[in-house]
This record gives sequence, structure tokens and C-alpha cells, in this order.
Amino acid sequence: MFRQTFSRTRFTNRTVLLRTDFNTGGGGVEATLHRLRETLPTIHALRRAGARVVIATHVGRPGGVRDDRLSTRPLAAHLEAFLGCPVATADDCVGPSALQAIAAMVPGDVLMLENLRFHPGEESNSPEFARQLACLADVYVNDAFATIHRNHASIVGVTAHLRSVPGLLLEREMSHLLEVTEAPERPLGLLLGGSKVHDKVGMIERMLPLASVVCIGGALAPVVMQQRAGVTSLATPPGTDSPLRRLCDALAAAERSGQVKVLLPIDVVASRDIGGHQAVTTAALHRVQPGWHVGDIGYRTVDRFSEALAPMKMIVWNGPLGRLEDPQFADGTTALAHVLANLDARVLVGGGDTAAAVRRAGVDERLWHVSTGGGATLAMLGNEELPGLAALGWHFSTTPLFRSLR
Ligand code: 3PG
Repeated sequence: MFRQTFSRTRFTNRTVLLRTDFNTGGGGVEATLHRLRETLPTIHALRRAGARVVIATHVGRPGGVRDDRLSTRPLAAHLEAFLGCPVATADDCVGPSALQAIAAMVPGDVLMLENLRFHPGEESNSPEFARQLACLADVYVNDAFATIHRNHASIVGVTAHLRSVPGLLLEREMSHLLEVTEAPERPLGLLLGGSKVHDKVGMIERMLPLASVVCIGGALAPVVMQQRAGVTSLATPPGTDSPLRRLCDALAAAERSGQVKVLLPIDVVASRDIGGHQAVTTAALHRVQPGWHVGDIGYRTVDRFSEALAPMKMIVWNGPLGRLEDPQFADGTTALAHVLANLDARVLVGGGDTAAAVRRAGVDERLWHVSTGGGATLAMLGNEELPGLAALGWHFSTTPLFRSLR
């Protein structure tokens, strides 16, 4: 599907600009390490081929100004430990310091450039900044799947100047996600949680016609429950159209038609204070005392979700079921991670927090695919425009999503 492929590209004695995504992605340092680890096959292959590997990544959202707290230097140290070889650093990602560091490289060497987002031209996709990046290298490799939905200079603009190919991680991510969208195994289940409910609407709407079971925890659960109870607050004035309202309507319609079973928490873990330090208890939702904070799904809900998901052949999981930042509220997510790892189903996990949770539970190796993408996975499954793929010559018009439904 890509115009050029990694395996058909000659890297020997070439300087390769390798765009990675070593951002934390909402899952803390564990998410970064996961992304580093998943990029290693590309780095190893480039070094073996005798390329000079110049790594470019963004970290955080510094807004186009230098912020040393978001430097890539600590990443270089992590990468050195993974690779077992020195990783040089440059003070900037373009200009004299980058060019000097590259001039000192020999084939097989690795260099980490400074944070791309210290320059405003990165996020504005400035042609001049893209040109400055391109003049660092002979070939461009994009392995930054988690940033593929961004129209940024190091993702899009740079491809106008250099031979551009996807890296091995990007190829792997795309092949798994396309299996879900183009040839999903049925029955298919969705397990949804997390706090950013708006970000998931497109993906859920798109996946809903394929699903037999939808289990909902996290911040989306009260939204759907309120809607069912006829409460119209939901951050939406009554009578107004909104993505959340549309989503609730779509869920209700799919349920009414008998196509899908929608499961919501029947019990929850709640606490008197928001951090879950005082008086934590498990109760049916309607018994939670006024003013208490709901932090996780309860054990009966875990059982109910597990039972409903057991017959599924494919499961897409996005978002933790509870507030993982407080350990008292992590049990529901951990329990479901173990349940899914023991099923005879292909489980796709997306989102930095969810990916970090399955790793903490020690089951990541037993799941079909733990994506490095958060927003990118949602965008891909939601069939949104992905500028980084188009820049590499991938055209969705030739690979219609949901072909199986037509
Ligand atoms: C991510 O972690 O989701 C990616 O690195 C994209 O980051 P962004 O949302 O700041 O563009």
C-alpha cells in the first residue's frame, strides 16, 4: 500500500532521518519505553545496513519554544541502554549543531536530535523548517505511528524533499489496524474506558456496526447512563446536537435493533475523597453516597464484562476502566487485562494509559497487538484523515475501510 517500502530501500552509507515518536503519550515513562522498544527493529535494521541513524522526535507540547524539561537527552540515555552502543546528542534538531553532529558520524552510528517542537515550524508544517530537516539526510524513514495523524513538518513537509519510506513499526501497526478495520473477526467486542470521551466518538461510531458487544467503563459510562436515564446535562444543552449525544443515540439504536449488547457498570468503587485515600467502598451505582467520587468499576462489573467478552474472536480495547493514577482504582483494569489475556481472541489495545496498564499487569506479550498510538489509533479506527500516511503515498481510496461490510 505504501509507495516505497523499507525492505526495498538502500540504506548503506546513507544518512537516514528517522522520525520516531518517543513522546510519553499519556502513559508516563512506561509508554515512552514501550515506544522506544517497539522502534528497535527499525534502528537495528538501519545500523546493520550501514546507515547513519539520525533520530528526530517530539516530546510534549512546548509550543515552539525551548523548554529544557522536555529535552530528548534522557531518551538518548534510555536508547543507549537498549541498543548497547553510544547514542550521541545534538543541541538542536536543525542548523549548525545538528549538521556538525552528523558530520562526525560513521556508518552504524546513532544520533538523537533535540526536541522538534522547540521550533514553531514543526507544528505549523513550515516549508522552510521542513527543508532544514531534509537537508540533514539522504533518506527519510517515518516510524512515528503515534504522530501519523498530525500535519507537521517532520511528518508531512519533509517528504517533499527526500525519498520517504515507512519504518518497520509503522508497517506493523498499519497491518494490525487494517486487519481490524478491513477483515475483522466476528464476533467483535469493544471495551471502552478512559477520560477523554470526545476523542473516542468517531472511533466508536465507526466500529459500532461491526460490534456484537460494547462494554463501557471510565468517564464514558456516566455519560451513557445519564442519557439513558433521560438526564440531558452531559455538557450538552437539551435539544442540541453534539458528538456525545449522537454517540448515545447510535448506541441506543444499535441496541434496540438487537445488533449489539451494551453493558454498563453495575457496581463501582467509590471514595469519600477524589484521591481514593478515605473510605473506599464498592457499591451498586445508585447506592453511592452523594459527594463521593467514583474511581473504578466493581468486581461484579468485571465478571459481567468478562462473561460478555468471552465468546468474542476480536476485541478492541481503548481506555482504562478506572482512574489509574490512584492505585485503589486500578483493580478493574488489571483484572480485565488478565481476563483478556486468557481469551482465545485477538485483542488490540490502544491508548498510552491502557498500554501501560497491560504492561504493568504483565500480560502485554499475550495480547495480539499493543499499539504505540493513542490519538493515532483512534484516528485510524475512526477513519479520519492521516496526513502522515498520505505523505508516504498511502491512499485510502484504494483500500476502503470496512470492505467486509459492503
Ligand atoms: C501522542 O503521544 O499521542 C503523540 O505523540 C501525539 O502527541 P500530540 O497529541 O501532542 O500531538
